[in-house]
Amino acid sequence: MEPAELRNYLGADWHKVESLMTETLTTDIQLLAEVNGAVLRRGGKMLRPAVSLLMARACFGGSVTEDSIRVAAASQIMHNATLLHDDVVDKSQERRGEPTVSSVLGDTPSVLIGDYWLVKAVNMILPLASDHNDLVSMFATTLSNLAEGEMLQLQKAEVGDTSMDDYLRIIYNKTASLFESTCVSAAISVGADEVKRAAAREYGICLGMAFQIRDDILDYTGSGLGKPVGVDLRERKITLPLLGALSKVDDERNRLVRGMVCGIEEHPEYVERITDFVHSEGGILFAEDRLEEFAHKAVEALSPLPDSKDKELLCELAMYNVTRKK
Ligand code: IPE
Ligand code: IPE
Ligand code: MG
Ligand code: MG
Repeated sequence: MEPAELRNYLGADWHKVESLMTETLTTDIQLLAEVNGAVLRRGGKMLRPAVSLLMARACFGGSVTEDSIRVAAASQIMHNATLLHDDVVDKSQERRGEPTVSSVLGDTPSVLIGDYWLVKAVNMILPLASDHNDLVSMFATTLSNLAEGEMLQLQKAEVGDTSMDDYLRIIYNKTASLFESTCVSAAISVGADEVKRAAAREYGICLGMAFQIRDDILDYTGSGLGKPVGVDLRERKITLPLLGALSKVDDERNRLVRGMVCGIEEHPEYVERITDFVHSEGGILFAEDRLEEFAHKAVEALSPLPDSKDKELLCELAMYNVTRKK
């Protein structure tokens, strides 16, 4: 099931999420309004609010509450905020098939607008604080996880010593943590019990891990992502396809390839050599295996939820991610 079909399926609830986002991001400052409008228009896959609404419905017999609409909107606003920051950190030129805000307006506006969107996301969930204090602290933890993940990634890119454990921690922090908060907050928004919340948490984490692994594979294999390929290597990020290839060769070769990653700025031709190494040592297949494991774990996590169309769609979404091209 493609994200666009999901949005159709979600119907009126989906439109409420979109309207709430637009309303929250309305401002009389022209430059800010223009950028907000552009980010909302090129909205991307809008996967997090779709997952959020599906999870709320799956926990609550097919309907949602006003709180569900708020947490769904907050998850996408927070996600967009992190992308505005991430494109500065990664010096990315292209996002969703268009030039990034940082490449058009500069890094400062991108960071400031990212901050603005972050605060809007927090504002969106604050009305839930009186009944669900844990929900607000969970999102706060996700925000610090995001920053920690990006910082650990930067630290590791300096030295080139990313281990498998480092990689898993980075992708949990920068991506899976937000999927986790998205799913748990959706469950909380419909008053789900502890068992359902735990199922939502496990699904969110596994889907998020799988999602970032797919993104990291696509950075090697290319696709219709609307963002360039090879960015990770150029930023000296050692991701799962490369870790998989490195696991197949001896220590000396490991040192050699990691050394090449560290020297990539002075030697841009290394990108192609390392990419060839990843393909020839089966790094893509290695990453695809881990991706499938996480996808299956996501599906299994949902077993405590009653059978429903919404649960089925959550399962389909986990499997869609295994092969998605954008
Ligand atoms: C991109 O997320 C950042 C990652 C966590 C990999 P998405 O692939 O969901 O981006 P959009 O929102 O659809 O553009
Ligand atoms: C995910 O990391 C970004 C965030 C979670 C903020 P990436 O750097 O891999 O994401 P893309 O590839 O730029 O979308
Ligand atoms: Mg990036
Ligand atoms: Mg990436």
